[in-house]
Amino acid sequence: MSNLQGKRILLGVTGSVAAYKAAEWVRALVKEDAMVTVVMTKAAERFIAPLTFSALSGNPVYRDMFSDESERVMAHINLSREADAILIAPATAQTIARLSAGGADDLLSTVILAARIPVVFCPAMNSNMLAHPATQENIRRLQHFGYHLVQPDCGSLACGEVGDGRLPEWDVAREALLALFEPNDLMGKKVLITAGPTREPLDPVRFLSNRSSGKMGFALARTARRRGAEVALITGPVSLLDPPGVEVVRVTTAEEMEKAVVSRLEPGQVVVKSAAVADFKPAVYQAHKIKKTSQGLQLDLEKNIDILKKLGEKRLEGQVLVGFAAESRDHTGEGLRKLKEKNLDLIVVNDILGEQTGFDVETNQVTLIDRTGNTALPLLTKEATANRIWDRVVSLLHERGGYGG
Ligand code: PMT
Repeated sequence: MSNLQGKRILLGVTGSVAAYKAAEWVRALVKEDAMVTVVMTKAAERFIAPLTFSALSGNPVYRDMFSDESERVMAHINLSREADAILIAPATAQTIARLSAGGADDLLSTVILAARIPVVFCPAMNSNMLAHPATQENIRRLQHFGYHLVQPDCGSLACGEVGDGRLPEWDVAREALLALFEPNDLMGKKVLITAGPTREPLDPVRFLSNRSSGKMGFALARTARRRGAEVALITGPVSLLDPPGVEVVRVTTAEEMEKAVVSRLEPGQVVVKSAAVADFKPAVYQAHKIKKTSQGLQLDLEKNIDILKKLGEKRLEGQVLVGFAAESRDHTGEGLRKLKEKNLDLIVVNDILGEQTGFDVETNQVTLIDRTGNTALPLLTKEATANRIWDRVVSLLHERGGYGG
C-alpha cells in the first residue's frame, strides 16, 4: 500500500510547456489511489486542455474564480478545506511572483492564500528566469511562508537552452509529497546507510557476491529522508535509482565500502548497515581470465574485514549503530550474539527462508532486537519495515536523552 493512498491532492497547474508532464503526474497519483483535483490557471489552458486532467483525475477541473455553478460557489475556500495538500506543478515565475506577494487574482492563487494545508511547489522555467534575483527572492519568500520547494532539474529546456529550470521527474515530487505525511522526527540527524551486496573480483570477468538487491537499504534511505534526516547511502552494485535528496556513493568491493563508510563517520550520527558484505574474497586476483581445465578449480579465500564490528569497537560519541542479520534459523539467538559481539544498539534479523522475506523481494519480516528485548514485526513492505526501524531508532535516541527530535 502506498502512503499516498486516500490522500486528497489539489494540483495547481500553471502556464508552462511542462504542463503536459503534470498530466503524467495525475496518472501516477491516481495509480497510487490518491484523489486528485486540478485547478488550472488561464495560461495553463494555453498548453493543455482541461479535459485531459478531468479524464485522468476523474474529477472536474476548476478554472474560474467566478463560476456560478452551485457546487463551485466559494470554491476557493472549499477546495483547500477538502484537500490534504496542494502541489503546484509546474510553477511558473509569474505564479511564484504572485504567490510571494500574497496575490489573489485568480482561482489558484486565492485557493492557496486561503489554504491551511501544506503546499509543495515545483518551479519550471527558462534558466535565466530562474536565476534572476527577483525569482530567487520570490522562491525564498515562499519557503519562508513554509511552502516546500522541489528543486528544478538541470537539462535541456523547451527554449533550446541547457540549464536549471526543468520540471523534475515524478519520483522527486512524490518524495516531497510523501514527506508531508511522515513525522519529522529525524530532522537534524545525520544518517549513514549501507545497502546491497559487495562484489569480490576473482578475475576480469568473475566475482563472488550474493543475492542482495539493495531494496531494503534504499527503502531505509528514502524513509529516513522523508522523516527529515540528512542521508548518505553507500551501496554496492545494484540496479536501483538514486533516492531523491540522498547522497549516494556507489562502491563495488567490501574494501571500498569500508573506506566510504569510515570517511563519513561522525559523532552523533545513526549508522545502519543493511548491506550484505561478502565475508570472504579471493586470496589472489587473477589478472587474466582463469582458463577452463579438465580438473575442477580450488579457490583460496581470505576473510574480508567486518566493517560493522570495527565501527562497534571504535564507536564515536553519541553514535547509534544498527546492524542487520540474515538468518535461516535461531533468529533470536544469532541476533543477540551479533548484537553483543559487534557492540550494537539494535539489530534487525531477517528470516531469509521465507518466500517473501529477505533477499530481492519487496517485503520483509524482521525481528528487532536491542538490549531490552525483541519485537517481531509482521510481513510488511520494505518501506514499512524501514519506518518501524526508524521508530525504534527515534525511541533509542530519546531514551539516551538530549534528543529534541
Ligand atoms: O538487499 P535486499 O535484497 O533488499 O535484501 C536485504 C538483506 C537481506 C540483504 C538485508 O536486509 C540484510 O539482512 N543485510 C545483512 C546481511 C548480512 O550480511 O548479514 P550478516 O549476518 O552476514 O552480517 C551482520 C551485519 O554485519 C550486517 O549489518 C552486515 O552489514 C555487517 N557486516 C557483515 C560482514 C562484513 N564483512 N562487514 C559487515 O559490516
